[in-house]
Formats: sequence, C-alpha cells, structure tokens
Amino acid sequence: MSKRKDKRQAGALYESVTRMAAPGHADTPIADDILAASPELARVLASSPHQPRELRKMKKFRFQLLHQWLLTQLEPCRVADVGGGKGLLTYLLRQSGWPATVIDPIQQALPTKYKDLATNRQTHLAVIETVPHINQGFDSSMAQDFDLLVALHAHGCNIQLIDAAAQFNRRFIILPCCIIHEPIYPPIGVHWLQCVVDYATRTGFTVEPFRLNFRGQNIGLYGIQR
Ligand SMILES: C[S@@+](CC[C@H](N)C(=O)[O-])C[C@H]1O[C@@H](n2cnc3c(N)ncnc32)[C@H](O)[C@@H]1O
Repeated sequence: MSKRKDKRQAGALYESVTRMAAPGHADTPIADDILAASPELARVLASSPHQPRELRKMKKFRFQLLHQWLLTQLEPCRVADVGGGKGLLTYLLRQSGWPATVIDPIQQALPTKYKDLATNRQTHLAVIETVPHINQGFDSSMAQDFDLLVALHAHGCNIQLIDAAAQFNRRFIILPCCIIHEPIYPPIGVHWLQCVVDYATRTGFTVEPFRLNFRGQNIGLYGIQR
C-alpha cells in the first residue's frame, strides 16, 4: 500500500473512532452555522464573509497568512512560536523585524523554500539559515520572556498556553486544530473551538476571533486579558 493511502486510511480510522467514542465532539473545521450560533465566533462571519472554496488558499500557506495578519493587526513584539515545527512563521516574523523564537521539543530544519504570497513567487532559503529555537516542550514559565504566545495548530499546547498567558499577563494567538493531548474535553455537542473560547473567557480573556484565507482549521483566537 502507498504511504499516502496508508496515511489517508489511518486518518479516516481515527476520525471514525473519535466520532463513535464521542459524537458531537467534532474538531473538524468548524462550519459557518456553528460559527453563526456562537456569540463570540459569529464575529468572524461579519469580518470575513464566507469565500467560495476554490478561492481559499492551501493549508501549507498558513504561515505566510498568519504572518501577514500579525503584521497588519499588531505592533512588533517578542513572539513565542509554540509548536512552531519547521519554524517558517518565526523566520517570516524575524525577516519583518519581530524577535520571534520557536519553542518545540522537536528541532527541524527550516523549509528550503516557500511561496511569497505578495509576489506569487517561490523564495529559496539558504541551507545555513536558522531561527532561535528552544528545544523543549512548552513550559508556562517560558511565557515570561515573550509578549505574545502563538500556537498555530499546536495540538496539546492550547490550554497550557492560555494558562501561561493568564499567569504572566501575556497575549495569545491560537489556531486550534484538534483535541489530542489537551487536558480538557468539550461537553457533548460543543465544538472544540468553542470550548477553547469558553475556557479563555473563563480564564479572564477577551477573545477576538479571526479567519485566515486557507482551507482547514483557519480560525484564530486573539486573547487579551480583561
Ligand atoms: C501539528 S504540529 C504543528 C506545527 C506547525 N505549527 C504547523 O502549523 O505546521 C504540532 C507541533 O507541536 C510540537 N509539540 C508537541 N508537543 C509540544 C509541546 N509540549 N510544546 C511545544 N511544542 C510541542 C510538535 O513537535 C509539532 O512540531
């Protein structure tokens, strides 16, 4: 069996098992009707009306799109790119003058190229390019050294990151994907994204949701302490 088919089948099996175990605990991309029913998340629909699917960018562009969002919405600040993987978001932020650092227990090399969405051209990175990287799992005390904690699809880190932001009065941006390794679980019928919003609100944050133009889990939550 090909690797790709193997991966697809494993993914389908995982989804069906989670559905059977806990129907209603969906952590698949959130549908617009669920967004519309949420007092907090409905704002996403007003600020970024649904676009035809074919206009949505591929998931692999999420780093460039989040980088652009950060540049247009916030002032430069010290960013912890928690669960940053290969570090492309950190690389782009640093290119823009933001002091960003990856925090990820798995050290990976930067990608060798990425698409610059502004020029629509491939940009190549020199093999020697690196970004600052804390080669450990995220620990709450690390939040002290940053202004903004970012978790892009960093499953298992979302709740911990909200707690750390609360403890050290920091802001956060999270784009939750799935529930794996998180310490809390949504009540029956509540989407994981809503569960994260509720948790952050209970923890003392005002949550501003936003949506990026890529396919998949593209809703971001910007948390600022009340
Ligand atoms: C699904 S990947 C997402 C990577 C990247 N942000 C992206 O969007 O492609 C999750 C990442 O979280 C990292 N990770 C897992 N546990 C972590 C922890 N406790 N603290 C920080 N990162 C962690 C993994 O090594 C992995 O790189």
